[in-house]
Amino acid sequence: MAIRWFSDTFWEGLAAVGLASSYPAHLPSADYHPAIIITGTSSGIGKEAALTFARQGYTVLATVRQERHAEMLSSAFEAQLQSAANDSDAAPLVPGGSLHAVLMDLAGKEEIAQGWERIEAVLRRTDAPLVALINNAGHGVSRVSELMSTEDWLHSLWTNFLGAIELTRLALPRLRATKGRVVNIGSMMAWFSMPCCSSYSACKAALALWTRTLRSELAPFEVAVTNIEPGGVNTPGPARSVSDLAGELDHGQHDEHPVEYRRMAQGLRRTLEPRQGSGMHPRYVVDAMAHALQSPVPRDRYYVGIDAHLLACFAWLFGEAAIDGLWRRMIAGNSA
Ligand SMILES: NC(=O)c1ccc[n+]([C@@H]2O[C@H](COP(=O)([O-])OP(=O)(O)OC[C@H]3O[C@@H](n4cnc5c(N)ncnc54)[C@H](OP(=O)(O)O)[C@@H]3O)[C@@H](O)[C@H]2O)c1
Repeated sequence: MAIRWFSDTFWEGLAAVGLASSYPAHLPSADYHPAIIITGTSSGIGKEAALTFARQGYTVLATVRQERHAEMLSSAFEAQLQSAANDSDAAPLVPGGSLHAVLMDLAGKEEIAQGWERIEAVLRRTDAPLVALINNAGHGVSRVSELMSTEDWLHSLWTNFLGAIELTRLALPRLRATKGRVVNIGSMMAWFSMPCCSSYSACKAALALWTRTLRSELAPFEVAVTNIEPGGVNTPGPARSVSDLAGELDHGQHDEHPVEYRRMAQGLRRTLEPRQGSGMHPRYVVDAMAHALQSPVPRDRYYVGIDAHLLACFAWLFGEAAIDGLWRRMIAGNSA
């Protein structure tokens, strides 16, 4: 808390003397419920963010891919409102926030265009100004590079990178008009690598550099752009990637593939499995999102989690390749 206060005071001081940029913040109030879009809200970080920001008084447009997830999300929001009636700790911080689940798949341009029409319909109906886009949806593909098809790469690229670009492009006319914000959810895996995770790391690295470029391009419009790079978070995502690994390489489905790849996948699985469930709670990432959304001096990058901070220090001291080397040794030790 003290560190955050000190850091905010420092950056606000720099902004006051023109050495850092400051941006308008759109905070909800009793009669103002600005709209934000959050992608990938069926589970994990996105779901936590959708419920949190609706409680803070925003009009949340939460994208999901399946009707049943839309229903589950709406029920979770209803349950939150019900429990607020009996528990003052759960009461909305700003009453009047709402949650609208919208179907959208980021797997291609056409799917995104269809989802965008649904988003525009909600924006017209609620008449809420769009003040932020949070590109959260993501998916890890667990496969060695040699065994990834072009289709695998394209799917990964659309979900983790191109989808965010396309959606941002569609949202920008509205975000420029409101001086809104773009918040991307990257990963510490943008700057260190693990075998079998090349497409995920490559997409997150591309997302990080695109964020910085976009921040410069949108500075004249006072649209802030931020990348959040969490360490391990306790969500269904990492578990899915590990079981993906097991399915792809461990069960001997691909006997023609070099045995080294199978050993590597097995070592990676044995290294990651005991760590399942040990990540931080998604609310820590949502705290960083809230800062990126609401602070007058949102940072261009947030590391979230002790692991992300420690690894960033380690990389700074010894170089990013040193982390790769550590992982390689750990995985080789577990693949025997
Ligand atoms: N968990 C971690 O340790 C960690 C660490 C660093 C960064 N992150 C990042 O945090 C973000 C959220 O991940 P999470 O950990 O909360 O995982 P999660 O619970 O698996 O959530 C991922 C979300 O993305 C959605 N999604 C996947 N593919 C999609 C597509 N093609 N189109 C639209 N939506 C799609 C999923 O929808 P479905 O349910 O329909 O698949 C789900 O709602 C991701 O960008 C991830 O890379 C996570």
